Amino acid sequence: MKVLVLNGPNLNMLGIREPGIYGSETYDSLIEKISDYACERGVLTEFFQSNHEGALVDRIQQAYFDKVDGIVFNPGAYTHTSIALLDALNAVKIPCVEVHISDVTTREDFRQKSYIRQACKASVIGHGTNGYLEAIDILLDK
Ligand code: DQA
Repeated sequence: MKVLVLNGPNLNMLGIREPGIYGSETYDSLIEKISDYACERGVLTEFFQSNHEGALVDRIQQAYFDKVDGIVFNPGAYTHTSIALLDALNAVKIPCVEVHISDVTTREDFRQKSYIRQACKASVIGHGTNGYLEAIDILLDK
C-alpha cells in the first residue's frame, strides 16, 4: 500500500510556529515518525508539503497517475478556504483522511468550516502529531 502524506501551508514551520498550539516537534522529525510507523506496517509513504494551493492540487492529481492508495492530508489554513482542494480530492477519488494537529473544533469561528471534509473518509482532529499515525491506521482499515 502506498500513502501520500500531504501537508499545507506553515506546517513546514512545526517546532517553531506557535508551540503552545502545535507542539515542539519539527516537520522533519514528524516525517521520520510517520515513515517509521508506516514502514512497520508495510506501508510505503511519500511526503509533500507546500505553502501554495495550486501545488497541493497538482500533487493530488499526480497521486492519481502514481496509483497512490491513500492520502493523509493536513491542508492547514486551506482547510477553511479551499474548494479547489475539495474538487481535486473528488476528482481522483483516492481515500483520504483529514488530520489537524490542534483541536480546530474549539478554536476560532473561521476554523469551524472544512471544505475538504466531505471528500474524506474520516477526520482526526486535536490528537497532536499522533493524528497522522491514526490516519494511516484508518486507511489500512479501508
Ligand atoms: C491546522 C489547523 C488550521 O486551522 C491551521 O490553519 C493550520 C494547522 C492543524 O493542524 O491544527 O495551519 O490544520
